[in-house]
Amino acid sequence: MAGEKGFTLWFTGLSGSGKTTITNLLVKELLARGSKLEVLDGDVVRENLSKGLGFSKEDRDTNIRRIAFVANLLSRNGVPVITAAISPYRAIRDEARQMMGDRFIEVYVKASVETCEKRDVKGLYAKARAGEIKEFTGISDPYEPPLNPEITVDTESQTPEESAQQILAYLEERGFIPARQAAATA
Ligand SMILES: Nc1ncnc2c1ncn2[C@@H]1O[C@H](COP(=O)(O)OP(=O)(O)OP(=O)(O)O)[C@@H](O)[C@H]1O
Ligand SMILES: [Mg+2]
Repeated sequence: MAGEKGFTLWFTGLSGSGKTTITNLLVKELLARGSKLEVLDGDVVRENLSKGLGFSKEDRDTNIRRIAFVANLLSRNGVPVITAAISPYRAIRDEARQMMGDRFIEVYVKASVETCEKRDVKGLYAKARAGEIKEFTGISDPYEPPLNPEITVDTESQTPEESAQQILAYLEERGFIPARQAAATA
């Protein structure tokens, strides 16, 4: 069906960089435009699909591979997907890219550790600094930023709305979603 092209917006970025915030804005806008859509948010996935997994490299990789597996099943059937997990390792993100080919759109949600720590939306950075959380990405665990993401949104200099608009513009330009009709000027 026209305008029903599957794709995966694969967000990657530190905790507190803005993945969930931007996802929520995109969900609202895409659904309002009549798009199908499924979201695989890291926090939600870890409560069900990946329940029981921890934060060792092996468990993190398993978690991300599961997300990629489901994102591939959906997107190849014409369902747009947004994944919003930290996905810290480049190699596993590249596996997802290989799996999905040109349906894979890597979105680097960029904010420094300092900024995310200041935001500390969930209070996790404070806990990580206090040693209450081990293996915390950006503090005591690696984060490998993408080398060649399709999109980078800089959440230190943009509002969440601007970041969402930038992503929508990319999707429209590449024909993943129909361009929004110009508002009537009467
Ligand atoms: N341009 C922006 N885009 C997204 N969030 C922003 C932006 N500017 C400021 N923020 C703020 O940054 C915070 C991002 O928190 P959010 O929960 O979305 O992060 P996250 O990447 O989903 O983290 P986690 O990996 O822990 O789930 C929010 O408080 C949001 O208001
Ligand atoms: Mg989140």
